[in-house]
Amino acid sequence: MTDMLTPVLSANWADDRPWKLTNYERLGGYQGLRKALTMEPDAIIGEVKDSGLRGRGGAGFPTGMKWSFVPQDNPNPKYLVVNADESEPGTCKDIPLMMANPHVLVEGVAISSFAIRSNFAFIYVRGEVLHVIRRLQQAVREAYSAGYLGKNILGTGYDLEVVVHAGAGAYICGEETALLDSLEGRRGQPRLRPPFPAVAGLYASPTVVNNVESIASVPGIIAKGASWFASMGTEKSKGHGIFSLSGHVANPGQFEAPMGITLRQLIELAGGMRDGHELKFFTPGGSSTQILTKDSLDMPLDFDSVAAAGSLLGTRALQIFDETTSVVRTTLRWVEFYKHESCGKCTPCREGNWWLVQMLRKFEAGQAQEGDIEKMLDVADNIGGRSFCALADGAVACVTSAVKEFRSEFEAGYHTPAWELFPYGKSALF
Ligand code: NAI
Repeated sequence: MTDMLTPVLSANWADDRPWKLTNYERLGGYQGLRKALTMEPDAIIGEVKDSGLRGRGGAGFPTGMKWSFVPQDNPNPKYLVVNADESEPGTCKDIPLMMANPHVLVEGVAISSFAIRSNFAFIYVRGEVLHVIRRLQQAVREAYSAGYLGKNILGTGYDLEVVVHAGAGAYICGEETALLDSLEGRRGQPRLRPPFPAVAGLYASPTVVNNVESIASVPGIIAKGASWFASMGTEKSKGHGIFSLSGHVANPGQFEAPMGITLRQLIELAGGMRDGHELKFFTPGGSSTQILTKDSLDMPLDFDSVAAAGSLLGTRALQIFDETTSVVRTTLRWVEFYKHESCGKCTPCREGNWWLVQMLRKFEAGQAQEGDIEKMLDVADNIGGRSFCALADGAVACVTSAVKEFRSEFEAGYHTPAWELFPYGKSALF
């Protein structure tokens, strides 16, 4: 079974204090940086392009291409910002990665900054995870002392300052432009794009915003070569990725595997479904992605296959639900989250999510009326695609897909409370 895994970022997680610089160096740490500093920045960008690495924060935008958008004739400073504000329900890969292996991120920051010709980098971490912030600060301090960061890195004349910045705990600040507003000291709210941050980002200057796992994948690509990375995965989704399984499996956790692994294989790696139960539905990439059912157990988990199945690969946060779960109640819990986290900047998201929660509560209580399904879908239709950022699209994805897959459970909400159909205590989740 374990031969299905490709431990690269997670290779040292079980070692003794893998977060220490000396332990990271013993396993070849910072060799990628040493090599990168002998290369031309454009050659590094070329290598990352050739590797086929696509953004691991959820959207899957080609990383090397994003870097190549940074205009080199712009006289302003260029910035690298690592989005470590992981908050998507079900998504839990960047935090363990930063706890166990912070130096692979720090090394990736140094290489990526050199490639885009930036002398300033920020790691924006969500405020609630103080233990992660401390671990990263310690790793950055170690890297400064060893000459991997700061002035004249490894005697090459390249300077890089890295700041670990703590957010204040808002889901919206994981949206890249809201994150930049927050970093600038303002309330985090999304900006209209274009211009994209690569052209006008932090302090209106060219800024690359990349997810933790994307940046952490860079040292391996540089040290071992683009073709090594591209040899894993599928044709259009290359490399290794961390898949997080949560919910009704025997052993939830993170599994680093080639892109394109199937859910059936991952559930096997997680010890199977919990005893005596079977899969009812799952999210491929967090609650912002359309739910899928056991029909998709053998679908390769790559960007294109999941899109073809009507959902998104997103953050590879596979939340697994068995037959004891009420889809109505689960959808309500998710939409309550989006309602709470909506920043309020645009009306469809601010008002619409509030209305969705009211309607879903009626379905949960068995007090909905004929026609409420259509009304709820109409509200969803007036939210998705009509707001500044992807938060609203994500919020309605679970609603529309839940109705599509399990309409009869919503129809039951015209007369029977969800807690009668799916009694509390039977599900591991509620
Ligand atoms: P997007 O597709 O609009 O953009 C993705 C990236 O590509 C951005 O960095 C953007 O600046 C860049 N980009 C796209 N077109 C560009 C262009 N023409 N020129 C320059 N750069 C360009 O997606 P978005 O809104 O940034 O992210 C949505 C995704 O975030 C969702 O798919 C969801 O899975 C994920 N997500 C992740 C969360 C987490 O906790 N990791 C939380 C919530 C959502």
